[in-house]
Amino acid sequence: MAATAVKRKGVTAQPPDMWRLEQVFLANEARIELRVFEGAEDLALAAAAEFLARARRAVAQRGRFIVALPGGSSPSRFYAHLASWRRPGTGRIPWAKIHVFWGDERMVPPGHADSNFRAVNDALLVHVPIPQGNVHRIRTEGRSPAGAAALYEQEVRTFFRLPAGRLPRFDLVVLGLGPDGHTASLFPGSEALAEDARLVVAPPVAQLGTHRITVTLPAINNARAIMFLVSGAPKSEALAQALQGGGGSDALPARLVRPRDGTLLWLVDRAAAGKLRKASLGQAAPGPRGVNPDRT
Ligand code: 6PG
Repeated sequence: MAATAVKRKGVTAQPPDMWRLEQVFLANEARIELRVFEGAEDLALAAAAEFLARARRAVAQRGRFIVALPGGSSPSRFYAHLASWRRPGTGRIPWAKIHVFWGDERMVPPGHADSNFRAVNDALLVHVPIPQGNVHRIRTEGRSPAGAAALYEQEVRTFFRLPAGRLPRFDLVVLGLGPDGHTASLFPGSEALAEDARLVVAPPVAQLGTHRITVTLPAINNARAIMFLVSGAPKSEALAQALQGGGGSDALPARLVRPRDGTLLWLVDRAAAGKLRKASLGQAAPGPRGVNPDRT
């Protein structure tokens, strides 16, 4: 399948070689898919195309697309691609129908350099026509960690109109992976990993000497789709453990991310995939199935 150029403001940029990907389904795991890309740029473009396809499908089927986004450095190119697909009038990404939440936040004000809100806002939201009311950030300023978590839980419950005990169903939760196997702000050994009722908690993170605000596993695992973005060799050990177990990985936070009734997508680059044991991977899917933004 020939790759189609993504046209932007007079510049015709050939999409990187995202067709040269390996796509496998994990053995005995119905809807867990691993896509291995040459590099971080291929990965970022494919992640943006996946976001676009799922946003359009959700809006067509349910009138809106509800996504939770991560902080960290890995998603920056992904955000840059989404930000660049915004020519007025093309209606490419239905920003008016998209609601953005966060998977986690640091205990800093929204303008702080470490703020996950700021990371997404600067790289994406300020560049796209998303209504302010559709941006649901975690409000930490002037609150205790527990207070910030409780406020966000209330915002999520109100937005999804959840009766007590019910879980939100995000259309897409995008996650990163730390070298220690943490994801969102669910760190190894954290009390937050055992949370089975609350949607948002504020665990102390001994490794960082601070508290973080994070959406919990029940809320993440109830999503229609979860997409990990993982690039670079420093993540290869954690990725291998998350996908293939071993090394006492049962409590590895990323390994506990298993959609209850949804799809789990691992978009990784070759460097991050360096320690995967090919033998235990399932059958390679026939032919690439990446989404081309100009064709959806
Ligand atoms: C955060 C994130 C966190 C992140 C990983 C990976 O607040 O930092 O939500 O879970 O995704 O730490 O970070 P990098 O992408 O920077 O490697």
